[in-house]
Amino acid sequence: MLSLVACAAWAQNPASTPSPAGKSELPAVQRAVHVCASCHGDFGRSTHKLYPALAGQTRDYMIRQMKDFRDQARAETDIQAYMWGISALLTDEQIEGLADYYAAQTPLPGKSRNAKLEAEGKQIFEQGVGDHTVRACTSCHGTNAQGDGAAPRLAGLHAEYVFRQLQAFKTPLRRHGNVMKSEAQALNDAQMKALAAYVMSR
Ligand code: HEC
Ligand code: HEC
Repeated sequence: MLSLVACAAWAQNPASTPSPAGKSELPAVQRAVHVCASCHGDFGRSTHKLYPALAGQTRDYMIRQMKDFRDQARAETDIQAYMWGISALLTDEQIEGLADYYAAQTPLPGKSRNAKLEAEGKQIFEQGVGDHTVRACTSCHGTNAQGDGAAPRLAGLHAEYVFRQLQAFKTPLRRHGNVMKSEAQALNDAQMKALAAYVMSR
């Protein structure tokens, strides 16, 4: 009985209200971050073509993805292989803490590799294609590809990763990627490569 009372008092203690860093400082989240870092890099600043950068990713998008992995609703081969197992061990609270942590990290600046291709990509990113067959990507992903809520940050993601995702949106493997389906079906491979090069350079 006594311990229950003590527990209730602790729960009402103002010192236990969430800090500005959200749930990222929970011990279980800090432990998980070390595991994530082995693939996604310290602070989520990966530059590897297989492991997408997580630094600066939007909170809402991160939470949705981690839950989609756990529910097996995002099912590309590499996601099954790398992300299903680890996400199955995470609670909602830990997922929110991980999202708080990565949203607060400063991303690395983008990498420019081919100015001509990037200029082609910029044109599509800002204006779309044709008669709204492909909508301007800026309308959801932001003018600098910085992301907004459910629409992820694309700036600085490796071009090969971005290209793979645009291909995946043509399939049912990313269920919540449905919002991108008409774009993915209307874009050809050359346009996807240009878009991928552009966002990597941001
Ligand atoms: C063993 C390596 C490995 C570990 C450990 C790992 N990941 Fe991943 N993760 C990957 C790979 C590989 C992909 C991308 C697969 C693909 O290309 O489809 C990925 C994709 C993701 C994505 C999707 C990113 C996006 O832009 O959509 C998120 C989010 C993510 N991981 C979060 C985490 C978190 C959080 C942890 C730690 C709890 C973690 N990962 C641990 C390998 C790993
Ligand atoms: C109507 C809003 C909207 C438009 C327009 C849009 N997107 Fe998206 N995009 C989204 C949302 C929402 C997601 C997250 C889907 C999910 O949860 O799986 C997404 C996901 C993505 C991803 C996956 C990123 C990752 O980290 O895995 C890429 C790449 C992408 N969009 C590129 C583009 C490009 C390029 C364009 C323009 C041709 C575009 N999007 C237009 C809303 C949009």
